[in-house]
Amino acid sequence: MFGVCYYPEHWPQSQWEQDAKMMAELGLTYVRIGEFAWSRLEPNPGEYNFAWLDNAIATLTNAGLKVVMGTPTATPPKWLIDQHPEILPVDPVTGRTRGFGSRRHYDFSSAVYLRESMRITEALAVRYGKHDGVVGWQTDNELCCHDTALSGSALAKQAFQDWCRQRYTSIDQLNSDWGNVFWSMEYRDFSEIELPIGAVTETSPAHSLAYRRFSSDQVIAYHNPMVEIIRQYAPGKFITHNFIPMNETGVDNFALAAPLDFTSYDNYPLGRTDLLLTGAPKEQLMPYMRTGHPDFATYYHDQTRGLLKRGFWVMEQQPGPVNWANSNPRPAPGMIRFWTLEAFAHGADCVCYFRWRQAPFAQEQMHAGLLRPDNSKTEAWSEAEQAMAEVAALDIANQPLQPASVAIITGAEGLWVSDIEKQGEAYEFNQVQLSYYSALRELGINIDFISVDSDFGPYSLIIAPSLPMVDQAFVDKCQASSAQFIFGPRAGAKTSEFGYPATLPPGLLQQLIPIRVLSVETLRADCMEGLCWNNQQYQSGSWCEQIDAGESEILARYDNGEPVVVRQGRSTYIGTLTNREFLLDFFQQYCQQANIQTYRFGADIRVSQRGDLLFAFNYSAEPQTIPLDKEAELILGNAIIEPHGVTLWRS
Ligand code: GAL
Repeated sequence: MFGVCYYPEHWPQSQWEQDAKMMAELGLTYVRIGEFAWSRLEPNPGEYNFAWLDNAIATLTNAGLKVVMGTPTATPPKWLIDQHPEILPVDPVTGRTRGFGSRRHYDFSSAVYLRESMRITEALAVRYGKHDGVVGWQTDNELCCHDTALSGSALAKQAFQDWCRQRYTSIDQLNSDWGNVFWSMEYRDFSEIELPIGAVTETSPAHSLAYRRFSSDQVIAYHNPMVEIIRQYAPGKFITHNFIPMNETGVDNFALAAPLDFTSYDNYPLGRTDLLLTGAPKEQLMPYMRTGHPDFATYYHDQTRGLLKRGFWVMEQQPGPVNWANSNPRPAPGMIRFWTLEAFAHGADCVCYFRWRQAPFAQEQMHAGLLRPDNSKTEAWSEAEQAMAEVAALDIANQPLQPASVAIITGAEGLWVSDIEKQGEAYEFNQVQLSYYSALRELGINIDFISVDSDFGPYSLIIAPSLPMVDQAFVDKCQASSAQFIFGPRAGAKTSEFGYPATLPPGLLQQLIPIRVLSVETLRADCMEGLCWNNQQYQSGSWCEQIDAGESEILARYDNGEPVVVRQGRSTYIGTLTNREFLLDFFQQYCQQANIQTYRFGADIRVSQRGDLLFAFNYSAEPQTIPLDKEAELILGNAIIEPHGVTLWRS
């Protein structure tokens, strides 16, 4: 299925009918609307104006389209902010109030904003919940985008104190858990607790972690009642949310997604590539400047799917240049079709393009759409058309999701620990996790992202690139499972209150792998040294642990002969950050041992599977040959994949 993001309030009503007709002709099914329209829905306090939206919905549904309604809470209107300026969040870094004039200017700790958000949600849900043409709902828009999970406001501080009261039984307990005797940070009462911001130098990591946990809980406490209200008034209609990259929400995305029917992702491969490769040498960016890095889109597709372990939507798909990265190139010809097929290969049920028509005014006038402001069609139009025809002809969207044999354990705590305890600038949660993912993807492996609470049953190989905090329940689950486990450096290195384990890292994981991390050194990213595995030399660096291997088997050693990769039973521990070549070879061996099929077709080819369909995506500007089996039944493209092309076969 396909859809588009549309803003009827941006266009004269006289244009809607023609727009709707063209959407239907293009073959779109869904239109997402409404998510920023509060000032038009309630121009004055309590004075609703639904007439225009009624008309817009009628126009769209008369053309055969189905509406996905967004709650407009990402953009509180001016009158509301003037009535209650305390809704505005405070930037935790600068301490300045983040003002009105763009979006997401609200504080998750504002009880007034919670009330107002639920009021407008209820008003919309009452009006459209049972409307036949409104088939589903999107909550808010990109929660936490623009770094809005954290607020340094007085309201946040008060709510944080209450949260601490709930979590820690007494102030003595909190002082002890946070190590507040250090630097005389002890509190006498919960009402004395500060937010861990604005201090002279670093604050206690346990304090910072508590603030991150609290802020995550605040986002969820804001979102859950919105879902409940929509459920109440819109029975039988789906509810989703359009996530930004999971590491950028800064919250527990599994918990956030829990009440939804399915998750959605906003896919901007070029914008993301530009931002993720900020500062990287140009040799890394240039090959993918117009295609996106081969793993950045699917990295987030797979995580989005993993939140609820079911098909997801791309709620917004980049159609051309965006306006918000450092540089905003045009996609290479064919990439809109390519990204669309790629999303379906990774389990999308629907792809919606953002946006219908480029806006000739305001902040995003430099952002492409399917149409230009003069109504002419952009390249994205015909590419979307092609993708739609192919998805329909090959029935891709109805193929079952491919059960994965390999899982990556992810979660917010790894991100929080890496953000809070820098130790080395080259250790960054997302980069570490992405490097593991990328190597597995270069081997053509389908991957599920799971949480520590997921069922481990379906997997033969479970990899935890960055899992600094584990509990006994996790260890028990690992022991009960028959999978192989691979832990990256820093696994089990912190107690739940950000302390050093008394038995040294990997703490509780010593029950699986009885080693001791004696020390950790971090090195500059460009000062890589070596490790030797299987008589081959690879790189080691950035984060290097000195390991007492005890009785465990030593699989690889640093250049100085000390152990770096060790194994005990079904658990393997990698004590350093390393390079792509090592991860590729190492994971390939583990996959072979577990009878997991790998495809190693080169750095620019990615193989994905959905149902019995296999896809090869060529990210390079050159034709690439893939060595297909004789039994492979080609159904789209060729064994020589054209530049930025896609080949499909049945195995
Ligand atoms: C998304 C957002 C949209 C629009 C788009 C531009 O992050 O949800 O509203 O701003 O980016 O690329």
